[in-house]
Amino acid sequence: EDPALLAAFEARIAAGESIEPKDWMPERYRKQLTRMMSQHAHSEIVGMLPEGNWITRAPSLRRKLSLIAKVQDEAGHGLYIYCGTETLGVDRHELVEQLLDGRAKYSSIFNYPTLAWADMGVIGWLVDGAAIVNQTVLAKASYGPYARAMVRICKEENFHKRQGYEICTVLANGTPAQKAMLQDSVNRFWWPALMMFGPSDTNSPNSAELLRWRVKRKTNDELRQRFVNLTVPQAIALGLTIPDPDLHFNEATGDWEFGEIDWSEFYEVVKGNGPCNQERMETRRAAHENGEWVRAAATAHAEKQRARRDT
Ligand code: 3HC
Repeated sequence: EDPALLAAFEARIAAGESIEPKDWMPERYRKQLTRMMSQHAHSEIVGMLPEGNWITRAPSLRRKLSLIAKVQDEAGHGLYIYCGTETLGVDRHELVEQLLDGRAKYSSIFNYPTLAWADMGVIGWLVDGAAIVNQTVLAKASYGPYARAMVRICKEENFHKRQGYEICTVLANGTPAQKAMLQDSVNRFWWPALMMFGPSDTNSPNSAELLRWRVKRKTNDELRQRFVNLTVPQAIALGLTIPDPDLHFNEATGDWEFGEIDWSEFYEVVKGNGPCNQERMETRRAAHENGEWVRAAATAHAEKQRARRDT
């Protein structure tokens, strides 16, 4: 690449400027953003499945309404971020193929089963809570379309977290069986939620470049720690136990220090060997095949519209 162009690009990044689709950018920058944004979009789409599992079994119409709204939001987030990848010159159909044939990654968290209604509350509270910590910082990313998408998505994530925490609050103040169901859900989702932030900084091959180019503004471990510091008091407020015997508050740093993450579990799930990876991919492939007629109808309609315009 032209060293002068690269130097000018680096100067723009250092000055905190926003890089826009038509601006010159190093191919590596484009590639990194395509990787990160496409996996983010895939995560949103696959993320609909664990919660979709409980829409028909929500305990009340009010709970069903907010869960349907949340799952619908996730679909919108996915489509919105796929639009963002298209500003990088990517064809979203190629990205969808990469997801369906197992070449693409999506967030590990969605490969865990949703076994009880309490999981809907805990996912809203912990998983969307983690996403908010991650995405409020991504809203300051150097690539304009991605940063702007995060602003709108974070507003909706806040609704997701609130509806989740409200479910948890009701269960925490409910019968002993409801409280036990909630505690069991926290036990199953706490550590996978910490894994959403990625490997530790010492094992994060992409972070250095992403930080230098101000796509990432904080490291994986910094965001993970911020999430833990935010969330532990919320668990204490509900009388819940965090399943980590090493968790303790450090007065000097103000951090809730936590135990070692099981990185072998993390890499197994990322590799495709989590509890639900196969089921999630099968469901996505079936949905894609069953939706073929919709795509064909939309294409036929668009061609008729075009023909009518051109006559
Ligand atoms: N699940 C699956 N793969 C993961 C992962 C996770 N939790 N964490 C890291 N990885 C992968 C990375 O993709 C990378 O693999 P690749 O090079 O083949 O893509 C590898 O592990 C090494 O990790 P790095 O730390 O080097 O990767 P990144 O610098 O990209 O950091 C990240 C990982 C923090 C997830 C970052 O990509 C990111 O912030 N992405 C945008 C946000 C996002 O995707 N969030 C997904 C959460 S789902 C969500 O928000 C939906 C909401 O509705 C709940």
